[in-house]
Amino acid sequence: MTKMCVGRVGDFSTNSISVHHYRQVRIALFRHGTAFFAVKDRCPHAGDAFSRGRVEGEQVVCPGHSWMFDLRTGQCLRGDTSCRIRTFRVTVEDDRVWIHLDD
Ligand code: FES
Repeated sequence: MTKMCVGRVGDFSTNSISVHHYRQVRIALFRHGTAFFAVKDRCPHAGDAFSRGRVEGEQVVCPGHSWMFDLRTGQCLRGDTSCRIRTFRVTVEDDRVWIHLDD
């Protein structure tokens, strides 16, 4: 099991977006209220970065052409709804935020 600590809960303000790297993968981390979500920071449509996008509830809107994805499941909700983005499980353990990279 590979996981990466990206900081303490207090390092991320509510409704913030931050970017983290694991090897060659760029990961966007979203804090929505007390919940955290992480996705691969590259839109399958034309490669724009979700970290520059807009969060609406538990969905992210891509800044490129406004496709919308569910941050929990990765499912595309607007755009090519047959596609899905890579999501990463995020946990909080002892006030530390972990991104799980291989499950
Ligand atoms: S690059 Fe994301 S919707 Fe076009």
